[in-house]
Amino acid sequence: MKQTLIIANWKMNGSLVSNSKLLTAILKFSNTANTELVICPSYPYLHQVKEYIIGSKIKLGAQNVNENITGAYTGEVSADMLKEFYCRYILVGHSERRALFQESNALIAKKITQTIDAGLTPVLCIGETLAQRENGDVKTVILDQLSYVINEIGLKKFKLVVIAYEPIWAIGTGQTASPEQAQTVHRMIRQYLYGLDPIVSKEASILYGGSVNETNASLLIKQNDIDGFLVGGASLNTESFQAICTLK
Ligand code: 13P
Repeated sequence: MKQTLIIANWKMNGSLVSNSKLLTAILKFSNTANTELVICPSYPYLHQVKEYIIGSKIKLGAQNVNENITGAYTGEVSADMLKEFYCRYILVGHSERRALFQESNALIAKKITQTIDAGLTPVLCIGETLAQRENGDVKTVILDQLSYVINEIGLKKFKLVVIAYEPIWAIGTGQTASPEQAQTVHRMIRQYLYGLDPIVSKEASILYGGSVNETNASLLIKQNDIDGFLVGGASLNTESFQAICTLK
């Protein structure tokens, strides 16, 4: 059976002092959590987080990566650098990056390739806006984001990708998708993958993200096709994050 995967996306939050408090608390409950736990801090804090989690079962992740191997790309960070800094996972195509930094499906596919080629696990974030949902376009939007990447990188590589369904209208709004709404999209993703390769479909880890908290997590995780969470705000709160990570 797949292990539940819970990824904390700290976004552009934190400081040496606040990270230290949070990490001390997370380390205490991490051993009892029956989940794979990943923390994605901002780049400058990768080393700090590494120092805390080394020897524990917590893994380190990054929030972004450049699509090139190396070269004159001022301000950018490569997958190999992230690997050197102990990262195992990289978030790719988060909706904030798609919207605020104009990341296209083509760019996202390149970043996924770099991540896999460096031996790391990409977490491909996909999701629709409220307007797209109200228009009845959820399936089109989600399958477009997904199929673009699969067509670019091929199924053999795609097998290594973790998928995170994050409806944009649910991110940071406190308005989470209902368990039924989330399950419907997760099921649709799994069925689409089944049409390409039943094994890839069965083994795919499909996470839900968008206002996950200690109250809604237990019903969401009971859905057949939800394999874990990508958690923003609630991952910065020790009590909330502990409750999410230690769900029975
Ligand atoms: P929130 O949990 O704060 O809604 O953020 C979700 C998210 O964007 C995680 O990547």
